Amino acid sequence: MQKNREQWNSKIGFILAASGSAIGLGNIWKFPYIAGENGGAAFIFIYLICIAIIGLPVLIGEILLGRTTQRNPVGAFRKLSNSSFWASIGGLGVLAGFIILSFYTVVAGWSLGYIFEAISGVFYDFNKIESAGIHFQTLTNNVTWIVGFTAAFLLLTMAIVYAGVQKGIERGSKIMMPLLFVILIILMIKGLTMPGAEKGVAFLLEPNWDNVTGETVLLALGHAFFTLSLGMGAMMTYGSYMKQSNSIMSSSLQIIFLDTIIALIAGVAIFTAVFATGQNPSEGPGLIFLTLPVVFTKMTGGYIFSILFFLLLSIAALTSSISLLEVVIAYFVDEKKWDRKKAVLIFGGVTFLVALPSALSFNLIKDVTFFGLNYFDIADYLASNILLPFGGLFISIFIAWIWGFDKVFIELKKGSESLFEKHIWVINAWKVFIKYFAPVLIFLVLLSKLGILDVIFK
Ligand code: PFF
Repeated sequence: MQKNREQWNSKIGFILAASGSAIGLGNIWKFPYIAGENGGAAFIFIYLICIAIIGLPVLIGEILLGRTTQRNPVGAFRKLSNSSFWASIGGLGVLAGFIILSFYTVVAGWSLGYIFEAISGVFYDFNKIESAGIHFQTLTNNVTWIVGFTAAFLLLTMAIVYAGVQKGIERGSKIMMPLLFVILIILMIKGLTMPGAEKGVAFLLEPNWDNVTGETVLLALGHAFFTLSLGMGAMMTYGSYMKQSNSIMSSSLQIIFLDTIIALIAGVAIFTAVFATGQNPSEGPGLIFLTLPVVFTKMTGGYIFSILFFLLLSIAALTSSISLLEVVIAYFVDEKKWDRKKAVLIFGGVTFLVALPSALSFNLIKDVTFFGLNYFDIADYLASNILLPFGGLFISIFIAWIWGFDKVFIELKKGSESLFEKHIWVINAWKVFIKYFAPVLIFLVLLSKLGILDVIFK
């Protein structure tokens, strides 16, 4: 083990930091709108299955790789395999971290900016979604606004990572995560007590199977990766600061539980309010920034709830973006022996440069497209639909087929001794999932994302 490498101070610190990474824009911005567009409950049902049969096994595997090697993704693969091929798979994770940061900080910047919009009371002028849409466009067309809030959000991210694993990430998560839970529960209670809320609940509970297609299944699987921060080494990096005596099995279950329950609560809070105010649930990515401001104007106490909501969204995004930046920083600290503070300053700056074209995709370089997609869309597509599943595929192949289960079990057993003694079937089930289910299903997703399945089945 490296000398003086940082560690989490407590098990709960790790769980809060890792669930902070998982719970983010994916849960509160993406999940409700994808569910809204894909038939509500039916999508959610498929998504839950994906989380259970692929998300959980890969999450356990990623944390295990990190805890065993006490390294960043590149170092972890190199240490266990001694091969530059596998080290470069870790390198793809570091690259994916940058790419996700480049669009994530922009959406997070909108969210930060919308806290101030909410405070200014401007939402009161919106009685229709069109006026909210025009306002959103005016803001995102404004280069100073969009670049300014992207930079402000990035500076917050850098400040936390700069302070270190315990003093920055762990301490920040211990403050922000409970705040996030409290705000979300307040919003859910508000949503549920609005007249007409039952239509929103029904939308989330009554499946409409007519809307489900093969594409829905793939979308659910891709989203399972994104929401659990899998496939690029974020969980591996957080796992690398974990003590050997903490159980990976129980921690993973807790992280998955928190991530899933938060997405569902966010869905309840949002859809009850959307239905109670007579708005359209399938508005797409604009659900949060266009539909919700109109919803807030139509509810009692909307002023306070709108501020709370965008604060919640910003906190969720911040606890995720710190994990994205930490992957990059851990690589430079472990492998290149850089000082953490220097790495944060330099790579925070580099992140700003890569985020700039994402921010400008809404104004100055709106018309610069490649295959019909602008820079922002390409970054999102490349990371979420290609790099993360690709990373997840290789992580599961590595664990099941390269590392060897005899060694895997020795590591996994640390901290989970009683599970191995009393419920070995759980471990055996995990083995089957990581060995067969995960690689095969992820492979199918990748093929379909690349459009190859369409060609075959046409
Ligand atoms: N899990 C985060 C979300 O749901 O918003 C996004 C994310 C964070 C993806 C960190 C990947 C990652 F490494």
